Amino acid sequence: MTMIGDTLDLAPRPEVTAQIGRLNTALLVLFGLLLACGLVLIFIVRFAVLKPIDQLTDQVRAVAAGDFDRDLHVDRPAELAELSSHIDSMRDRIVSAWRVASDQAEELRRSNSELEQFAYVASHDLQEPLRKVASFTQMLEQRYAPELDDRARQYIHYAVDGAKRMQLLINDLLDFSRVGRVTGGRSPTETGAVLDRALDNLSAAIDDTSATVTRDELPQVDGNPTQLTQLFQNLIENAIKFRSEEPPRIHIGARRAGDMWEFSCSDNGIGVEPKYADRIFLIFQRLHPREVYPGTGIGLALCRKIVEYHGGQLWLDGEAESRGATFRWTLPAAGDR
Ligand SMILES: Nc1ncnc2c1ncn2[C@@H]1O[C@H](COP(=O)(O)OP(=O)(O)OP(=O)(O)O)[C@@H](O)[C@H]1O
Ligand SMILES: [Mg+2]
Repeated sequence: MTMIGDTLDLAPRPEVTAQIGRLNTALLVLFGLLLACGLVLIFIVRFAVLKPIDQLTDQVRAVAAGDFDRDLHVDRPAELAELSSHIDSMRDRIVSAWRVASDQAEELRRSNSELEQFAYVASHDLQEPLRKVASFTQMLEQRYAPELDDRARQYIHYAVDGAKRMQLLINDLLDFSRVGRVTGGRSPTETGAVLDRALDNLSAAIDDTSATVTRDELPQVDGNPTQLTQLFQNLIENAIKFRSEEPPRIHIGARRAGDMWEFSCSDNGIGVEPKYADRIFLIFQRLHPREVYPGTGIGLALCRKIVEYHGGQLWLDGEAESRGATFRWTLPAAGDR
């Protein structure tokens, strides 16, 4: 009997069952509400944030692809609109600075090529009248020699000398204006062979001065053989010309520097004072009177133009250990272009 009574006590009471039912309904409603809120939130994020970001991304992508005049425009949300206006003004500034720079570069290229053309035409056309002046003055001297006194002969000598010097200057100017215009193309070039050719062209000066030229193992570069021969020849010619009392000892070095090869030409000559390190590369600039060391002063200007045409640099090494002068220059390694 007691057991039956206990079992009846355990069965849920009707009010409890109703309570549980209400609780379940409340939970279901709450879940429904949360779901609805979640959906509304997703909708808001999608339309208020993600869509404007997508719009902005599309516009930025179009600008990055090259449409530099395209304005960025997003209305909402306010933060994104502000961000897009900042990006826009940055784009405006970068694009206008870039346009100014590229206009200037174009203008520079144009005026440079006009100048080269002018130098070429002027020096080419000046040669003929100059040749006439020199040869007729010489003919004057030959033909009327008996009638001329010493002073007249001296004047004629000055006139011929001046005309010859002008011819040299004009020829140098012609060479200078030709770099990159006439002797253009670049190809894999053995600098060892280039040096051989330069030494061959200088063989008389080398023999006369008992100069010795040593070299490192020389690499292949991406270059123009004719111009590179001129480069090596001018530097070695200087090393011989500006020698000290000892016979010239010249060394041509090469070492790898990233994509480039760095070459050097060092000598045991009179050297260059560091304060003239820039001046010597200017066209027709010389440090010594013509009577002491002959020349027009175009060699190093030409060398620098050749090296720069190859994308390298040429400079006087002010910290070199050797007593004379050391010039260094870089040229692109072959196959790296
Ligand atoms: N190896 C060197 N040692 C000492 N001085 C040098 C050396 N190379 C160049 N210089 C100095 O730099 C100046 C300019 O050299 P650059 O080769 O341009 O002219 P140049 O040799 O006088 O004339 P050009 O080369 O036209 O015959 C020279 O006049 C000389 O004073
Ligand atoms: Mg020279």
